[in-house]
Amino acid sequence: MKYKSQKVAYWFFALSMLLLVLQIIYGFIMGFARIGLDGLHEFIPFNTARAVHTNLLVVWLLSGFMGAAYYIIPEEAQRELVNVKWAYVQLISLALVGVAAVIGFHFNIWEGRKFLEIPRPLDYLVVANVLLFLGLILTTLFKSKRRTTTSLVLSMGLLFAALLYLPGMIPFDSQVLDSFFRWWVVHLWVEGVWLLIMGGILSFLLIKITGVDREVIEKWLYVIIGLTFLSGILGTGHHYYYIGVNKIWIIVGGIFSALEPLALLAMALFAVNMYRKGEKKHPNKIALLWTLGSAIVAFIGAGLLGFAHTLPQVNLYTHGTLITGMHAHLAFWGAYAMIVFAIISYALPNLTGRKFYDSSRGRMAFWLSNIGMFGMTIAFGVAGVAQVYLERKFSMDFMEVQKEVSIHFVVLIILATLFTFGVSLYIVEFIKHGRPTDEALETLDS
Ligand SMILES: [Fe+2]
Repeated sequence: MKYKSQKVAYWFFALSMLLLVLQIIYGFIMGFARIGLDGLHEFIPFNTARAVHTNLLVVWLLSGFMGAAYYIIPEEAQRELVNVKWAYVQLISLALVGVAAVIGFHFNIWEGRKFLEIPRPLDYLVVANVLLFLGLILTTLFKSKRRTTTSLVLSMGLLFAALLYLPGMIPFDSQVLDSFFRWWVVHLWVEGVWLLIMGGILSFLLIKITGVDREVIEKWLYVIIGLTFLSGILGTGHHYYYIGVNKIWIIVGGIFSALEPLALLAMALFAVNMYRKGEKKHPNKIALLWTLGSAIVAFIGAGLLGFAHTLPQVNLYTHGTLITGMHAHLAFWGAYAMIVFAIISYALPNLTGRKFYDSSRGRMAFWLSNIGMFGMTIAFGVAGVAQVYLERKFSMDFMEVQKEVSIHFVVLIILATLFTFGVSLYIVEFIKHGRPTDEALETLDS
């Protein structure tokens, strides 16, 4: 039994794909600038491209999470969304706010706060948008008699993500205080509450795809959430080592960051074990690939590569270098981009009635984008290690070092091209599914 209001999810996914394409374009602008091909410098200098690249990432992932919620919540709550019209209003306003922020960046309308460059006045619109979204999701849940652990974890993740946006809006004169609370948003999002969102989506997908009992899967979900909070909250300390706060954070941040990979390891083991236990009967192999892939790549990118530079002794040298870029690319790709790709791959055939469950294009999209992204990660890592030694150990001038490592960006661009080819195949598959229809939802049996 499916619900017609789930169709709105499709448009959030479509917005996601559109903004992802833009994000990749800005990534290439930066890659080329790194090797001296900076023809767009007058219009799009590196710092603008960087802010656009990271902010677009956040907006397309949020759009993907929202789409996931609009798809999952009605199904879990076993009722239609309380108001579909407002969900479309929310979609359009999300797109407008995102686009307005990005256009503003090109005219230097932004705040120099890394990852939170959206100007404060626009933040109020973000808040209004998210409140509308949460209102729709939570009332749907409250009006239903069926509240599953999966739907609660997903909506708690979304609710906490919204609440944590607020500390980032407090104005401070002190750079230290500003940094301190900025990380409440950035770190506690990606290493805290976003993992609840990921866990909720993962749990939903595993229940549907593996056929393992809900009770078993949801019990694991509790363990993962426990581990995430245990390590992730105080793990915020790895951003506080050398910003001017109390030295206690060096110890707290070091210890709790070292525990963070455990939550991600649990997540990967969870996904793989549920697949092994399951009946392996579900025909949607592409969705399965992205689901398991997400849990495994998240462990490598977020867990292992994160740990590679959270020890204070290491971070002293790697802080703010390309080592961060190495970790960030594979972490965001594995944990968040791939889980969005997974829910889209699962939802699209159900919404549109076109069953591209196991197409070779779909498989190619998965492998090429992943090989490309792993290669990019290695290129970032090699450039980053070289940068750390030359700049931080041997005190070479910053720009001199950038020149020395620019060759690695040639490699990076080649692998980014492979990655983009994979993503393009995924988008072709997305478009080939066509639009969602009522008939597709009515005739669905699972
Ligand atoms: Fe962090």
